[in-house]
Amino acid sequence: MNADGRTRLNQTPEWTALAKHREELGEVRLRELFAADPGRGAGYTLQVGDLHIDYSKHLVTDETLRLLRELAAATDVFGLRDAMFRGEKINTTEDRAVLHTALRAPREAVIEVDGENVVPDVHAVLDKMADFAERVRSGAWTGHTGRRIKNVVNIGIGGSDLGPAMAYEVLRSYTDRGLTVRFVSNVDGADLHEATHDLDAAETLFIIASKTFTTIETITNATSARNWLLTQLDAGPEAVAKHFVALSTNAGKVADFGIDTANMFEFWDWVGGRYSYDSAIGLSLMIAIGPDNFREMLDGFRIVDEHFRTAPAESNVPLLLGLLGIWYGNFHDAQSHAVLPYSHYLSKFTAYLQQLDMESNGKYVGRDGREVDWQTGPIVWGTPGTNGQHAYYQLIHQGTKLIPADFIGFAEPVAEMSEELGAQHDLLMANFFAQTQALAFGKTPEEVRAEGVPEELVTHKTFKGDHPTTTILARELTPSVLGQLIALYEHKVFVQGAVWNIDSFDQWGVELGKVLAKRVEPALTEGADVPGLDASTKALVAKYRELRGR
Ligand code: F6P
Repeated sequence: MNADGRTRLNQTPEWTALAKHREELGEVRLRELFAADPGRGAGYTLQVGDLHIDYSKHLVTDETLRLLRELAAATDVFGLRDAMFRGEKINTTEDRAVLHTALRAPREAVIEVDGENVVPDVHAVLDKMADFAERVRSGAWTGHTGRRIKNVVNIGIGGSDLGPAMAYEVLRSYTDRGLTVRFVSNVDGADLHEATHDLDAAETLFIIASKTFTTIETITNATSARNWLLTQLDAGPEAVAKHFVALSTNAGKVADFGIDTANMFEFWDWVGGRYSYDSAIGLSLMIAIGPDNFREMLDGFRIVDEHFRTAPAESNVPLLLGLLGIWYGNFHDAQSHAVLPYSHYLSKFTAYLQQLDMESNGKYVGRDGREVDWQTGPIVWGTPGTNGQHAYYQLIHQGTKLIPADFIGFAEPVAEMSEELGAQHDLLMANFFAQTQALAFGKTPEEVRAEGVPEELVTHKTFKGDHPTTTILARELTPSVLGQLIALYEHKVFVQGAVWNIDSFDQWGVELGKVLAKRVEPALTEGADVPGLDASTKALVAKYRELRGR
């Protein structure tokens, strides 16, 4: 029994039933499942917004899905979902509401935190962002010397970087091509150097994005950026106001840094860092794509929010995707989950999902403070599929690990491309369909022999198949579709955290490294004798100092 009165997850009858079912199913053969049910290809599909979801190539039967839904019911996933949408403080270790869904709520919605409707504030900030974005885009906002802003540099890390950086790539064809937009996150000075060395400071706007405004990487880079700007312009601190704006929940720290809080775009503690890119954190993106496209993206988020909130369990896509992950992680010992987009524009999509998923569900302690004794969040990885095919797909096809994968593709190429380049799209998508086919159905030894392959090579050329995949297909990669995709993964992660009984909204696991870095820094710079430094780290620091000639 849990401290919260709940039966331990892996002692519930629903869990036991799934374990038994897994044993009885044994080695599932997708060829057999498809042969037994000719309607499976069309039947195991769902639609949410513009996203067509095909889950037919999963190692599941109707019974598996039923049992998984029973587990979701027993762990009250929908109860926690409703509490989240109502603004209850479901982030218990930080005593905070979890309301990224309020960031895309319509103006007339009412969502209360501590008795206050937060929706008017959300729209006030969106309007302020839109006004500012238009002024930058139109040239009405000028730099200290009166020149038009042509470069925008977002400085932030984690959730204050990954979302806008990813979405900027995704929506490149919607961006104002006359603007140079860059993202700096790494405290390695090389990042800021490469982002600024060819820019004219008089035409550059820095957006300092930090929820807490205390993150050492961001504050260090922001300080260096300010020094760079003032040196380049040969100006005093009065130049800062025209070249620096802040995105934060912490007005005090923003003012301490020297940014006028009139140039601050606010968000709130009920927005988690990794759930924040459709808050003020999206300002760089909004400047790049314009307020209308940004709002269209928010509408996309909302479509999936509404679906997750209202669709019954049988057709609820985030629920389904979350439960499929649980099926593989907890009942097939899968350790990782690949996300493989067949769109060059989604090149940073999986990196974004890594924070969303792994910072949310990479936890071994449950909501009740006890260690869990079941697997939690998977390792999320992947890059655009065609490149992956020539790199790591070998292991997915013929390795010894089970790697469930999401394949994301689009029917239309991006409109902006030339006809010739657009025509390559069919070849791209032929690969997309071929891969999930090969992964699911493989190639039997008999089929290999029938091709006249010499006997000693038959095993090498055999593909066992039965590698599970979800196919997510949409007509076109629009701002709305991007919003739909992100919300889909946000809620999938939510479902899994709810079943595993972990707090998906804190991130205590990143704290220790931050504290130790602060402690060890004087040992590097001054050779200070840091108390409590272990022998290995001490020796490494000594070597580092020697190599630096200190
Ligand atoms: O990595 C820890 C973390 O707190 C993330 O959750 C967050 O997105 C990131 O640091 C940046 O934090 P901030 O926006 O406060 O600078």
